Order: sequence, then C-alpha cells, then structure tokens
Amino acid sequence: MTPAIQLTNVEKSFGITKVIQNVTLSVAQGERHALIGPNGAGKSTTFNLISGYMKPTAGSILLRGEEISGLRPFQINRRGLSRSFQVTNVFANMTVWENLRCAVLWATGHRYSFWKNVDNLPEVRERTAQILEDIHLTSRRDIPAGLLTYAEQRALEIGITIAGGANVILLDEPTAGMSNAETERAVALIRRLTEGRTLLIVEHDMSVVFGLADRISVLVYGQVIASGTPDEIRGNPKVKEAYLGEEAA
Ligand SMILES: Nc1ncnc2c1ncn2[C@@H]1O[C@H](COP(=O)(O)OP(=O)(O)O)[C@@H](O)[C@H]1O
Ligand SMILES: [Mg+2]
Repeated sequence: MTPAIQLTNVEKSFGITKVIQNVTLSVAQGERHALIGPNGAGKSTTFNLISGYMKPTAGSILLRGEEISGLRPFQINRRGLSRSFQVTNVFANMTVWENLRCAVLWATGHRYSFWKNVDNLPEVRERTAQILEDIHLTSRRDIPAGLLTYAEQRALEIGITIAGGANVILLDEPTAGMSNAETERAVALIRRLTEGRTLLIVEHDMSVVFGLADRISVLVYGQVIASGTPDEIRGNPKVKEAYLGEEAA
C-alpha cells in the first residue's frame, strides 16, 4: 500500500546550517507514528516541511504517493493533511464555538461572508457541535478561547486540526505543559479522534509515545537514526545511547 507520508533524502538548511540531513521516513496509512528526539533535533522543522510551511533544500515529500514539496500549506491541507502547532494557535478573542466553526467552514469550502449568518448552515452547525462534543468542550462553547485552561486550549486545537476531516494528522507536542491527568485525557482524545486516520505525532512523554505509537522514528541532529516498532526502538542500542538512555528501561 502507498504510504500516507514518504520523505526521501530530505534536507533543510538555514544558511550554512543543515538542520535536516538526508531524512528518509515512511508513515503507513492508518498508522500512529511518533517522531521523537532531543530538543533541537529538527522535529518541528520536519513538520514544517511536510505541511508546506517550509520548503526542503533537497529531497522529496510524498503524500499518498503525490509530490507535495513546494506546495503551499493550504494546498497540502486541501489534499488531506492537517497539523497542529507546538505553540497554541487558537483565536483567543473568539469563542470556542467560533474557533471551531471557522475551521469547519474552511473545511467544508465555505468562505466567511458578513452578510450571511453561517450558523444557519445546518451541516456546519451540526459538524461544529459534534466536534465540540468530541473534545468535551460543549459546556464551554460560548466563552472566549483565551479564557480556557491551557489543557482545554490544546483540546480545542486538536479539534480544530481534525475539524476538516483530514486523513493525515500531524500533532506537535500536544500534551506539553499538561499535568498527568490532563495528559491521560488528551491521549484518550487523540486516540479516539485519529481512529482510522494516519497520525504523525511529536511527543516528549515516553509513556505516551510507547503507549500510543504503532511505529516510532528517532531524530537526532537532523538525522533519523532508527525507525521501528516500540519494542524495536526500546531495544535499539543506538537509540539508547543517543537519546532514550534509562528512560525506556
Ligand atoms: N526558521 C529557522 N531559522 C533558523 N534556524 C532554525 C529555524 N527553525 C528552526 N531552526 C533551528 O533548527 C534546529 C531544529 O529546530 P526544531 O525543528 O524546532 O527542533 P525540535 O522541534 O526537534 O526541538 C534548531 O537548532 C533550531 O534552532
Ligand atoms: Mg519542536
């Protein structure tokens, strides 16, 4: 089967600094794949390359077999890939409902127009309400997103990311800054919302990574040093030495 995402010999330089070197990475359709590695390894940059926010200096990036490097983020989004950001990216002054509706409108091909009451579009209203329910924020629907707790904002962001029904979801450190209990809830949410889709997730919490991922790739200094099942990664001496150390033991 054609992989959902295929990077081949991808490189990214900023000036003379090569931040991504010769990265080859394959994510199968329907797989939950975790990208791990130390700070500054190039994980967010890899997400920027896949989602079109940055252009690779060299190499090829395929989305379900089609070359996407060089396309704009919205074009890649239209082809069924959606990503969240490491830093929360919701509209703080808009209500929870408006934030989600905005994402649903975009996804359903509607353009905002001030003379139309978009809440009268039943498919938009229903889909927005459904996602709101899915992310457990129905009771918070009318408050500005900026007033949500941090964990709720991250849940909203996951909702926005999946609102478009994209098949391939990229989440960059969705549980960063959360308590253990919040992390557990967020992981359950991610697991449920990505059912039947492809997930590529950057995550620093190894219990989350090893509990959630079907496969794991390890990025160190811009290079993939290993890809495999959680057991293969746990037992890989190169990975232990370069990154996991005692953590996975
Ligand atoms: N726009 C940029 N310009 C210059 N250097 C950058 C830029 N974005 C990231 N970098 C550098 O690339 C390296 C990888 O960063 P990043 O992808 O954010 O790492 P990670 O997400 O794995 O922590 C870091 O050394 C960072 O300073
Ligand atoms: Mg990062």
